[in-house]
Amino acid sequence: MMLMIKRLALLYELLRSPHLFYKQLRVLKEIDRCMRLIAVEALSPTLRSLVGRSVDIDELMVKGGYSDRGLLVELLSLVEKEGVVRLSEGKVVVLRNPPEGALQEASEEMGDVLREAFGTFIDPTVKAIRERLSGKATREFDADELRVHWSIALEGEFYRIQREKAIEFSKLVEEARRRRGTFRILDYGCGSGAGTLQLFNSLSGKVDDFEVDGCDVSEGLLEIAREDVAVGLPIHFFSLKKNRPAKGIYDAVFVSHVLHWTDDPVKTVGELKSYLKNDGFIFGVESTISKRLYPVDLFIRIYGANGFPSLNELQRWFNENNMKLEHDPVWFSFKAISISPNNF
Ligand SMILES: C[S@@+](CC[C@H](N)C(=O)[O-])C[C@H]1O[C@@H](n2cnc3c(N)ncnc32)[C@H](O)[C@@H]1O
Repeated sequence: MMLMIKRLALLYELLRSPHLFYKQLRVLKEIDRCMRLIAVEALSPTLRSLVGRSVDIDELMVKGGYSDRGLLVELLSLVEKEGVVRLSEGKVVVLRNPPEGALQEASEEMGDVLREAFGTFIDPTVKAIRERLSGKATREFDADELRVHWSIALEGEFYRIQREKAIEFSKLVEEARRRRGTFRILDYGCGSGAGTLQLFNSLSGKVDDFEVDGCDVSEGLLEIAREDVAVGLPIHFFSLKKNRPAKGIYDAVFVSHVLHWTDDPVKTVGELKSYLKNDGFIFGVESTISKRLYPVDLFIRIYGANGFPSLNELQRWFNENNMKLEHDPVWFSFKAISISPNNF
């Protein structure tokens, strides 16, 4: 039943916006190849010394100084798809030298949308994979140059379209128009503010009285939001390291590509709900895991996210907070409303 709904939704979207839809599919296909080549590159120093040999995983772990066996096995299955190794019964047969220059070539051939979303992440991801394999903990979301890579990616079309679809899906403007008084919206985990700006622009000129706030744990990304992306606009950005959002004051909380980064999404959803007025709603983007999205899932896990939830898992995050979730399987937009009022 769920599969049928998903297929119908895909077909509907294909007919409604074929260009956008194909562009998004192309990005996912390209990123699949890139992640395979990144896996090859990350393991290449170790594999080069073993060409023509058959070794077991433990030997490979020692040889490479790796401590994360699960990640190593996962990466090897990507490397196998590139024909560099063959895996059989716990053994790794190294068939040939990892091809030189293939990753560089693939990155030069990237389409514009993927280049924005992923282009600057290639070398850092090879480095991050090697760190994870050796057991080094992930760095903060905005550590060093990562904040620049993320802000470029999040302002690009890949993420922008998904946020735009979520704004449409939630019927934000209609919701704002049918409420009395100031319409207050919070962008939770706003990053460098690209989505906050989209919210602001969606309401501007259409809703008379509204306020937009944005908050994040990353001070570095908030700085880009304030001083660059949304400079000069009356948007209040604040750091979650210093302040918590006020309870019971928001008509809507927008949360895009954030929940899978939090340690306890059920608790986070409960907190987001507590910021809402009784008739408020939570909406945004939350991808669900599938074969198509696996490379993106691997990519974000390398940087410390918990990975995308299944649809059932996502529903549980909201159901356990007495909220009812609607989710669009094509663009991963969602909207959740409360089925029991806040208790505070
Ligand atoms: C992929 S970015 C998405 C940013 C923004 N929502 C967008 O769509 O452009 C994920 C964001 O979640 C933030 N984040 C990670 N863990 C968080 C947490 N526990 N609470 C709030 N924000 C968090 C990161 O700092 C980052 O800005």
